[in-house]
Amino acid sequence: MRDARTVLVSGNWKMNENHFEALKLVQELAALVRVAPIPEGREVSVHPPFTSIRTVQTAVETDHLPFLLGAQNCHHEERGAFTGEVSAEMLAKLNVAYVIAGHSERRAHLGESDVDVRRKVDAILAHGMRPILCVGETLEERVAGAAVEKVRTQVSGALSGRSGEVVGGVVVAYEPIWAIGTGETASVQDAQDMCATIRSELSRLAGAGAAAAARIQYGGSVTPDSAGALLAAPDVDGLLVGGASLDAEKFVAIVRSTA
Ligand code: 13P
Repeated sequence: MRDARTVLVSGNWKMNENHFEALKLVQELAALVRVAPIPEGREVSVHPPFTSIRTVQTAVETDHLPFLLGAQNCHHEERGAFTGEVSAEMLAKLNVAYVIAGHSERRAHLGESDVDVRRKVDAILAHGMRPILCVGETLEERVAGAAVEKVRTQVSGALSGRSGEVVGGVVVAYEPIWAIGTGETASVQDAQDMCATIRSELSRLAGAGAAAAARIQYGGSVTPDSAGALLAAPDVDGLLVGGASLDAEKFVAIVRSTA
C-alpha cells in the first residue's frame, strides 16, 4: 500500500508539437487551469520533444504556470561524440524535473536494453532530476503468463542497488504495451495488480518505506473516462498520458478526474 502522496499526471507528447504548436498547447492548458486551479495534491508534468522544451520552459516560468517540465529521454553520457543525442545535464539546465527512461517505444524501435535504461536512470539522478521508469509487457507475454516476471526484471534492472532514499523518489510507469495507443485501457484490476507487484518489487529492492514513498503511474490509452477509476486504485499514484495529452481539454479533464 502507498503513502498519502502527491498524484503525478504526466503528458508524454511523443514526437508531436513543433515549438509553435507546443506554445499553443501550453497556453491552452494555462487558460484552462486559470479558470479552475489544479486540485490540491496533484502534480502535472508535460514532456515535449527536445526542440520544444525551451519554448515550454519560457512559457511556464514567465507566467508561473503550475506545470513541471519533463523530457522523453536522455543519453547516459555527460558529453562527447554522440551525434544527435541530448545529455541529462542539458535537460537539468532547462529546469527539467522528470525524464522518461525506457519507454517501450524506444525499447522496441531503438533497441534500448535494461542496461541502457539503468545508465539513463544513473544520469538522470546524477543531475538531480527524477526518472519516470517505464515498464510493461507485450500481449504475448501477458498471454504466456510472463508479465510479472518481465516487469519485475525491468524494475530491478534499473533500480537494484540504490538507496531507499533514491528509490523513494523515483516514478515507475506501468505501461502495458498492448494498451499503448490502441484505445484498449487495462482494466482497473489489472492496472492495480501490476502496480502492487511493482511496489512489492521496490520493497524487496529498497525496503517498505521506499516502496511506499515511490510513485507508480499507469499509462496506456488513458482518457477522461477511464482516469478517475484508475486513480482510485490504491497502488496507482498517477497517470502517464500519450494521445489524450495533446488535447488540452482532455488532459486537464484527466488531471481533475476523480472516481
Ligand atoms: P497513449 O495514451 O497514447 O496510449 O500513450 C501512452 C504512452 O505511451 C505514454 O507514455
